[in-house]
Amino acid sequence: MPCNLTTTFYDKTCPNALKTIKTSITAAVSRNPRNAALVIRLLFHDCFVQGCDASLLLEGSGSEKRSPANDGVLGYEVIDDAKAAVERICPGVVSCADILAVAARDASVAVRGPSWLVRLGRRDSTTSNASQALSDLPRGNFNLSQLIESFARKGLNTREMVALSGSHTIGLARCTRFRDRIYNASNIDPAFAASRRENCPRTTGNGDGNLAPLDLMTPNTFDNNYFKNLVGFRGLLISDQALFNRDSTDSIVTAYVRNPSKFAYDFGAAMVKMSEIDPLTGAAGVIRTVCTAAS
Ligand code: HEM
Ligand SMILES: *[C@@H]1O[C@H](CO)[C@@H](O)[C@H](O)[C@H]1NC(C)=O
Ligand SMILES: *[C@@H]1O[C@H](CO)[C@@H](O)[C@H](O)[C@H]1NC(C)=O
Ligand SMILES: *[C@@H]1O[C@H](CO)[C@@H](O)[C@H](O)[C@H]1NC(C)=O
Repeated sequence: MPCNLTTTFYDKTCPNALKTIKTSITAAVSRNPRNAALVIRLLFHDCFVQGCDASLLLEGSGSEKRSPANDGVLGYEVIDDAKAAVERICPGVVSCADILAVAARDASVAVRGPSWLVRLGRRDSTTSNASQALSDLPRGNFNLSQLIESFARKGLNTREMVALSGSHTIGLARCTRFRDRIYNASNIDPAFAASRRENCPRTTGNGDGNLAPLDLMTPNTFDNNYFKNLVGFRGLLISDQALFNRDSTDSIVTAYVRNPSKFAYDFGAAMVKMSEIDPLTGAAGVIRTVCTAAS
């Protein structure tokens, strides 16, 4: 894959861009640690659909953002705020797609996760398409072969899929997304299932939006506890536990349990790769002035 992105892209045109984004994201995470999770998830959902072009952030009927695949995705205002701060120092220079890629790295660092170098020069799309989000994003009830296939279609291998799933070491999920597993699965620690059922009623209704941490041990710290949970059959989503279910990825999970720095390294490398899926560069795309609108 030819890569036109460079770490020095804004060195002349906006030398304080990276510092400004970092200040904004660090403040957002201190206000609410979940913002780290929200920003990292935004990058994933943007890059998997039409590439890393900030198409997810566009408002409008029929937009990716309105797709059921992005229902429950939050944190858009964190990126809007970072963009506004950058626009104040360098109007019309730094793309929303680059801001999102940098923000995800800064969010990881803010919850004590790994850091990595972000290459820059992405440009922003002017369109998005809700139905593509539905077909390109994996779902929480996917089995292992579906997960592998979904990431392979985006050029990410199985090991990268497992490493990237490690971002479920932070953040929250809604009862509607883990109900089937805690009531029906057999590959789940019974005490864990019982405790999750206390705040997630079996029947659809009032409790649908009740939240539980994806990592029950340290939900606001980026560490390898997600993988320790999987080995104990305490993954929250069907797609989480699919990574450790007497199948081909078990050995990757146990390697990340034994060796947290291996996980940190692989996660950073996989985030770089994910954040470089099909960028718009050169004369393609635009630099949006606000991330929510095409112009
Ligand atoms: C492997 C396939 C994946 C599936 C099936 C999946 C699915 C989900 C689901 C169902 C939720 C809960 C959403 C809700 O209840 O509203 C969630 C949350 C989250 N996902 Fe994933 N995800 C996957 C991979 C990833 C990747 C690659 C990343 C980032 C690199 C990521 C980052 C997150 C984060 C940080 C949250 C918590 C967000 C919050 O606090 O609201 N996920 N994911
Ligand atoms: C959106 O994407 C779908 C599936 O890729 C395609 O069939 C449809 O024509 C697209 N819609 C627009 C408005 O581009
Ligand atoms: C995974 O799910 C798909 C779609 O439901 C199904 O066709 C496939 O057989 C499943 N694979 C395994 C190994 O369970
Ligand atoms: C569990 O499985 C049963 C039987 O397949 C199904 O009717 C039910 O909707 C599933 N989910 C829950 C939360 O019980």
